[in-house]
Amino acid sequence: MSNDHVNLTGRDVLSITQFSLEELSHLYTLAGQMRQFISQAGCIDLLRGYIMAAVFYEPSTRTSSSFLTAMQRLGGGIIPITEVKSSAVAKGESLADSIRTLDQYADVIVIRNPEIGSAQIAADSAESPVINAGDGAGEHPTQAILDGFTIREELGRIDGLSIAMIGDLKYGRTVHSLAKLLSLYDVKLTFVAPETLRMPDSITSDLRGRNVPVHETDEVGEIIAEVDVLYVTRVQKERFDDLAKYEEVKGSYVITPELLRKAKENMVVMHPLPRAGEIDSAVDSDKRAAYFRQVKNGMYLRMALLAAVLGQV
Ligand code: NCD
Repeated sequence: MSNDHVNLTGRDVLSITQFSLEELSHLYTLAGQMRQFISQAGCIDLLRGYIMAAVFYEPSTRTSSSFLTAMQRLGGGIIPITEVKSSAVAKGESLADSIRTLDQYADVIVIRNPEIGSAQIAADSAESPVINAGDGAGEHPTQAILDGFTIREELGRIDGLSIAMIGDLKYGRTVHSLAKLLSLYDVKLTFVAPETLRMPDSITSDLRGRNVPVHETDEVGEIIAEVDVLYVTRVQKERFDDLAKYEEVKGSYVITPELLRKAKENMVVMHPLPRAGEIDSAVDSDKRAAYFRQVKNGMYLRMALLAAVLGQV
């Protein structure tokens, strides 16, 4: 399983910008191998004797269960901390102290926290590798890698594709990381959002500066016929200071079977989930709806990443 040019042992995974194309390809290959092991035997004991702490200071269903399942399918043990109420942080302990403590038990630490930059603080406090599972509206690098893996699995390639992201591009950390990942490939990007939820200028200008074709619009009907991937996101209610502003934009886009009638036969619809009304459930039976396959890919990809940062593949 090894690749002489790629070594991720001991790597903190804080931002998607830390990864080269070659490292991403290696992770996709490993994730494909994990899929085979799981389908043959249900598990593979690469990480027996290793412990992962998963510290989720923000709600999570998929990402936390995906990491916990990935570690257990690799034969490793887990310290799941899912609620800040039940942790020492509720008693006033600093993030740095909590992480330093968990570092005494665990070989790898996965953290989700509402503050941008918190994963970096955790990484500075721990000797074990730290994996960012979402730092507020900042980044969500493992989601981006599993999204890249999913695009490749669904369409056979990433280069040459036209990829649209729609919804809350301002606060959505998944699209921040995914846009940065896709900038390594030869893709055309379209950002579809209401004016108030546009992709941050810092990201679009970085993409344009690196000659990635970027088109912005607020009209999905304008672009649906030409895209290969439609990546749909939830409006991030929890990031709004003023809920009236959330109410104004929450129903901006709904993907329906009618809309998809205008789309290509071999395009895919993705979503990091959870959804909150932006994809009609009638779309689920369409073969182009890839969001539940995307969830499963997340487990394979996180198995690959855990085994890689712990130096076992
Ligand atoms: C996303 C997140 O937490 O950023 N979910 C996930 O990790 N699968 C998207 C969201 O919450 O809207």
